[in-house]
Amino acid sequence: MSTILVFSGSSRADSINHKLAELIARKIDASGGSATLISLADFPLPMVDASGFGNAPEAAHRLRGLIDAHKGLFITSPEYNAGYAPELKNALDWSTVAKPGAPASGLAGKVAAIGAASPGGLGGYRGLTQLRTVLELGMGALVIPEMVSVGFAATAFKDDGELADERSAGFLQAAVTRLVKEAAKA
Ligand SMILES: Cc1cc2nc3c(=O)[nH]c(=O)nc-3n(C[C@H](O)[C@H](O)[C@H](O)COP(=O)(O)O)c2cc1C
Repeated sequence: MSTILVFSGSSRADSINHKLAELIARKIDASGGSATLISLADFPLPMVDASGFGNAPEAAHRLRGLIDAHKGLFITSPEYNAGYAPELKNALDWSTVAKPGAPASGLAGKVAAIGAASPGGLGGYRGLTQLRTVLELGMGALVIPEMVSVGFAATAFKDDGELADERSAGFLQAAVTRLVKEAAKA
């Protein structure tokens, strides 16, 4: 079974990236995978630094445990000044600090997909290129080439949470289908 942990890099109420994560989780379940949707709001974490080694908070261990229990991840992130969200980086860094002995390969053996939603026209794409680098080079994940980028998010979602634009919906489904397929082999 392709077990996929799904979360957004925003714990903000009404987060458009959490909304995108909710849709993705539904699509994973409908595509033969099994999604676990979480919110970083339930993982309160201070700013990480090296003093966290051997001393990680409970939320970091809980996040680490969830990552370890799944074959893949689908992460959505806000774009801040053309980068991805610092809240997400902090959570990812804590997940490595909470893994004894392996901060440089915290996602080894995992398959990941990434996406973003943004009010602007670029759909958070610039931040995703950086997130890909961190997940691949820093954490050892296999990140699939398909990326989900939802621009003009205020009008991009229909009332039922689906994407209004058929082309965007197709990109999202392609990423989900590929992730579920690759995670089955992980
Ligand atoms: C500090 C800051 C910088 C931002 N920079 C960008 C940006 O570079 N590109 C963009 O599309 N949106 C940018 N935004 C707007 C966010 O995309 C918008 O606030 C979005 O709703 C955040 O995602 P969320 O709803 O999931 O929390 C920025 C927002 C903040 C607070």
